[in-house]
Amino acid sequence: MSSIEIYPFATPPHGELRVPGDKSGSHRALMLSALADGTSKIVGLSQGHDVAATSRILCQLGATRRDEGADVYITGPTEGLKAAGDTLDCENSGTTIRLLSGIVSGIEGEHRLVGDGSLSRRPMDRVAIPLNAMGSHVTGRGDKVTAPLNILGSSQLRAIDYEVPKPSAQVKSAVLFAGLRANGPVTVRESIRTRATTEDMMRLAGLSVTSTDVGAGRVVTLEPGRPVSRQWLVPGDPSQAAFFCVLGAIAEDADVRIMDVENAPERIGFIHVLRRMGAQVEEQNAGTVSHFRVTSSPLMGTSVHSSEIPSVDEVPILTVAACAANGVSEFLDMGELRLKESDRFATSIMLAESLGARVWSEGDDFFVEGLGSARGFSHFTFNAGLDHRLVMSSAIAGVAGNGCIIENPETVQSSYPNFFEHLESLR
Ligand code: S3P
Repeated sequence: MSSIEIYPFATPPHGELRVPGDKSGSHRALMLSALADGTSKIVGLSQGHDVAATSRILCQLGATRRDEGADVYITGPTEGLKAAGDTLDCENSGTTIRLLSGIVSGIEGEHRLVGDGSLSRRPMDRVAIPLNAMGSHVTGRGDKVTAPLNILGSSQLRAIDYEVPKPSAQVKSAVLFAGLRANGPVTVRESIRTRATTEDMMRLAGLSVTSTDVGAGRVVTLEPGRPVSRQWLVPGDPSQAAFFCVLGAIAEDADVRIMDVENAPERIGFIHVLRRMGAQVEEQNAGTVSHFRVTSSPLMGTSVHSSEIPSVDEVPILTVAACAANGVSEFLDMGELRLKESDRFATSIMLAESLGARVWSEGDDFFVEGLGSARGFSHFTFNAGLDHRLVMSSAIAGVAGNGCIIENPETVQSSYPNFFEHLESLR
């Protein structure tokens, strides 16, 4: 097992950086480009392994890719994507396997989707149920339909009106991608608004998609069709910016600027949480992106409900912020954390305990009694397993506190290959 030693910052973190292109936007830009007829250009594509897995699979299905510097050109075949005949390896990426399940459901023939040890324990019944109701045939292991998945696709899927039981952008998107090949309009209903990346980008690709907010939720209806090729500009990933925002808030005398970050409301719930904790976060809005500047301040505990951060992606790093705060923070209705790249309900608690905080849980809620400052963090060793967000959360706690050893740090490559360089640039 490899490990990396992280030393505390001797001087306060100062500087400006650009995080990688949004992972969600990158997957979808590749997918919509491969489904279109002709060549699309993608600027700002994430260089992470998750997005690379999506790209490789789309090429197996018949798309072609050409890189020119950081720009990526994807050509979708005029006759459309075709079954590959060989296994499609989604590696560590939930977005890849779930969205591609929707895409290949609409491609005649047999498809086999596999993943690594982490992905193979995550539930795929949430996409199998609606896709099978549309006339696809998705099978996997056990009740939770875990990978490897075998999918028998059909170019004539049935239209569906589907209420997603647990808010999930991946499930919504799988149904919408399959809906491109349905025999009528497909409607997806969600009780909490999740990221609208798929529907927004489908609209930009010339498809007919309507979205209506209903209370805290949303109803999305898509007419079947084929996306058109175009140029995509992928904004900075807010879920990656969250690590540096927390660093700016908890390290002494910090001044950290993160530029060109996507600012969709479903993505920046963590900013509201940090502000409620007392963090100094300035936002300069520039249309669909914002520049954030975070400077140190004492934090206090807060209450966070999962509906404020629908994907719960930023909960591990907010747990680190809670450890640096005064008082108790509560993280409520966090059951979905258990189904991510690791059981993040357990691993977030383990990380907080390694820092020396008192942590307890009741059902799907957990509570963190902060240490009052990152200076109070213990030096710790943390095994990140196959979870990139736990690598980055540990590293932020280590540099702001008293250092740490991270075991299995290479899994950071799945979303943010130059994370450690960016972190060092603030030293
Ligand atoms: C994603 C959706 C989220 C998130 C994941 C990316 C997406 O999952 O955790 O990192 O690109 O659609 P949910 O399906 O739970 O919303």
